[in-house]
Amino acid sequence: MAIQDRKRDHINLTINGDAEYNHTTGFEQFRLKHCALPELNLSDIDTSVEVFGRTFSIPLFISSMTGGSSEMGQVNRIIAEVCEEYKLPMGVGSQRIMLEDASSIPSFSVVREVAPSAFIAANIGGVQIRNVISDSKLRLLCDSIQADAIIVHLNVLQELMQPEGDRQFAGVLNGIHYLVNHADCPMIVKETGAGIGGPDARKLYDAGVRYIDVAGSGGTSWAKVENLRHQDDKAHSIFNEWGTPTVQCINEIRELGLKDLVVISSGGIRSSLDILKSIAMGANICATAQPIIKVIHENGKKGLIKLIEQWTHEIRMGLLLTGVQSIDALNSNHLYKL
Ligand SMILES: Cc1cc2nc3c(=O)[nH]c(=O)nc-3n(C[C@H](O)[C@H](O)[C@H](O)COP(=O)(O)O)c2cc1C
Repeated sequence: MAIQDRKRDHINLTINGDAEYNHTTGFEQFRLKHCALPELNLSDIDTSVEVFGRTFSIPLFISSMTGGSSEMGQVNRIIAEVCEEYKLPMGVGSQRIMLEDASSIPSFSVVREVAPSAFIAANIGGVQIRNVISDSKLRLLCDSIQADAIIVHLNVLQELMQPEGDRQFAGVLNGIHYLVNHADCPMIVKETGAGIGGPDARKLYDAGVRYIDVAGSGGTSWAKVENLRHQDDKAHSIFNEWGTPTVQCINEIRELGLKDLVVISSGGIRSSLDILKSIAMGANICATAQPIIKVIHENGKKGLIKLIEQWTHEIRMGLLLTGVQSIDALNSNHLYKL
């Protein structure tokens, strides 16, 4: 099956299929403490956050999702236009296809054309950079979108669920180590929904990685997505619930005490309150995928703008209700466990 067809299946299934974990992220077990006397005005509240040396309007990264065909380029264009206007960071989907088929490049490069000043991250799979990535490939990935960062995604679960998927995962850490030393922009390592917990985070940190997107379980289940694609004897639905929940990932990583490690909370971020709870738990910024592709599918750019404006307003309200003026003042003292 061509990569474009597989990607189209992925989008359709994550929007319309039963593709979310049954178990939860863990955010529902926590609440932010109410402050009856904030002594602040709503207009005093600052929702912005500083990460990667850049300031974003709210702590939200639009997760890597798509690219490859003109249809997917259209989705990338919408995300990039909104990120430019609302000062949000974004990642393009896996650029592996670009390395094999140059005709797919415009579906990625469009993001820089419409978002000259946005923070945009390139994306490639860990299995594609095993041991090493050539300088020419690295340059193609980054130069095509004038990348501000490069994301390496880890997706062992997804690959194993695909009958046609990769089976070789040795050398990924070496490849990451090589890339940290050769990329001239920050490098983020992310999962795709099964989570990066404490032990993996430690290995990544020791390899030089300083930005980890946990992409834990509780949101999109890539085992479910892949198993829905072939509901036959090739499906291994026993792994549908495989993964480390997002809250567990954040806690395990923060327990390592690595102060200079930037943690991105993702996997099942579905509301403004998930964002605030993540920050209170020690994440620096959040990321979300499925709600973005769904809202674009249903209501296009207008729908995405409405979602961002709603979440921005709710983040402002939530900060006021917690009694803090800015994102960086939010911490675990503002949370309680049910
Ligand atoms: C339609 C779709 C396509 C995706 N494609 C990619 C990809 O190309 N590269 C990547 O790193 N992650 C990809 N992801 C994974 C997301 O970036 C994210 O880590 C994961 O879906 C968990 O977040 P969520 O629960 O908010 O969806 C994709 C997700 C969706 C929904």
